[in-house]
Amino acid sequence: MIGALMTTLRLPALLLLLLLSLLTSAARATAKFEDTMAQRTLACSVCHGAEGRAAADGYYPRIAGKPAGYLYNQLLHFREGRRHYGLMTRLLEPLSDAYLSEIAGHFASLDLPYPPPARVTATPAVLERGRLLALQGDPSHKLPACVACHGTRLTGVQPNTPGLLGLPRDYLNAQLGAWRSGQRRAHAPDCMAQVARTLTPEDLNAVANWLAAQPLPANPHPVTRLPMPPSVACGSAILPAGAMTR
Ligand code: HEC
Ligand code: HEC
Repeated sequence: MIGALMTTLRLPALLLLLLLSLLTSAARATAKFEDTMAQRTLACSVCHGAEGRAAADGYYPRIAGKPAGYLYNQLLHFREGRRHYGLMTRLLEPLSDAYLSEIAGHFASLDLPYPPPARVTATPAVLERGRLLALQGDPSHKLPACVACHGTRLTGVQPNTPGLLGLPRDYLNAQLGAWRSGQRRAHAPDCMAQVARTLTPEDLNAVANWLAAQPLPANPHPVTRLPMPPSVACGSAILPAGAMTR
């Protein structure tokens, strides 16, 4: 019993060691180990699915094909405590900014198909409210539309703004909730904290449901720029020199 408990407790540590050795390529000595970014980031696929295309359970988010600056910012957020997931933080702690930006560039460059959206059970009225918030915002509450920053097709904008389609409802709800409570933060000015706090809990649920029900458009890639600059500014780290953006 105690032995079993010890093993359970120790497992994460062992897993972490294994993952770290992949990332830092200490496993290079192994016969057929090819020292490529794809090999090193196998550690990430354990949770994020093959090539970072997300796991089926809706908990581990897709990372493939997101804008490089966005991914880089998230890796910094986890490493520096603005986002919280213990195992990821410990994996990223020993890595330099330049290496994190290389990892971000690797995942950003992967162009993989998206699965069809999950079926949602929300009522048509809730979905309609979600659609209005995403496409038009709510001027009476000074809430900008999601498309004002995430792009007309909601597929994201280079280099720092992610797309909002292809994400499970539970993940969207959790992230927006975390911004409301201060659990998730971004570089200042943290525009998403302002957006999330302006949404009522009902509106937050409505927009998450609508977004999760939308298929990706024919061109699912992030756009290079917005038709109009957004009314609210958003912060970001500066990418290390020579970083790859797509
Ligand atoms: C032990 C499981 C696990 C491992 C290993 C892991 N991640 Fe994660 N990752 C998560 C979870 C869970 C989240 C979502 C956390 C949250 O709710 O904010 C996440 C979130 C992310 C995000 C933010 C995604 C977004 O859309 O905002 C990025 C980027 C990311 N991980 C990259 C990586 C990279 C790169 C690696 C390998 C170096 C890695 N992860 C390894 C579990 C893991
Ligand atoms: C003023 C610009 C702006 C507006 C308006 C905006 N966003 Fe964002 N959003 C951002 C930026 C920038 C990020 C990346 C923040 C970071 O670095 O963590 C982001 C990130 C997100 C994420 C995290 C995605 C992930 O993969 O983890 C979600 C979810 C999100 N926004 C939802 C929304 C919704 C829903 C709306 C509309 C109600 C909205 N946003 C409106 C700028 C905006």
